[in-house]
Amino acid sequence: MRLDKLLADAGTGTRSQVKEYIRKGQVSVNGEICRKPEQKVREEIDQVCCNGQPVRYARYQYYLLHKPQGVITATEDPREKTVLELLSGVNTAHLSPVGRLDKDTEGLLLLTNDGELAHRLLSPRHHVDKCYLVRTAGPVSVQALQALEQGVDIGDEKPTMPAKARLKEDGDLLLTIQEGRYHQVKRMLKAVGNEVIYLKRLSFGSLTLPEDLKAGEFRALTAEEQEKLRHDVSGNITG
Ligand code: URA
Repeated sequence: MRLDKLLADAGTGTRSQVKEYIRKGQVSVNGEICRKPEQKVREEIDQVCCNGQPVRYARYQYYLLHKPQGVITATEDPREKTVLELLSGVNTAHLSPVGRLDKDTEGLLLLTNDGELAHRLLSPRHHVDKCYLVRTAGPVSVQALQALEQGVDIGDEKPTMPAKARLKEDGDLLLTIQEGRYHQVKRMLKAVGNEVIYLKRLSFGSLTLPEDLKAGEFRALTAEEQEKLRHDVSGNITG
């Protein structure tokens, strides 16, 4: 594999950024500075460093973004700012968001080039929990909580799958669903005569939104987090 491709695939930067690092002498292969982006390297064997830091080749990248409001969940758009534009310094060429959050929704969004894992995480058959903090226009009644838990008619062929709904002391709702239908949470609240005025995704499977990750910030998943996500979709499939 070419040296510039390895660096870009490992998330060190875009292809043009990593070429620049290489030309400036910031990249070494087995301890020797290499100034040729086209240099062939053996990804599992050669020791590549950028600015003295070892670069670990990874076929797949996983990023956890705290999506802010006002940004759209898309890979490109002629007018609006996209979530990919927030991953500064990352080679986003093959990354896609796993599912979507509305423009006015904030919270945890996973981005990856691991299409197989993304597909499994999104399939309702794998029962991956997504927990949302929901602020509503009016108070949520006990009957509404029960209806949300049992499943409501949101105008689709089938009612929503069973969910967990819990009221916090401040009146906000914690709603955990295992599907990801279009505008699902907003439509569920509408089905019980209410309206969502603020929505934030707090968790996705075993991943939770880190408290110290501000809106607009992102970080790579740790190896442990990646393993837990794979575990989230390795169990029994039903439905
Ligand atoms: N449900 C919604 O209605 N919107 C989101 O962004 C996510 C879930």
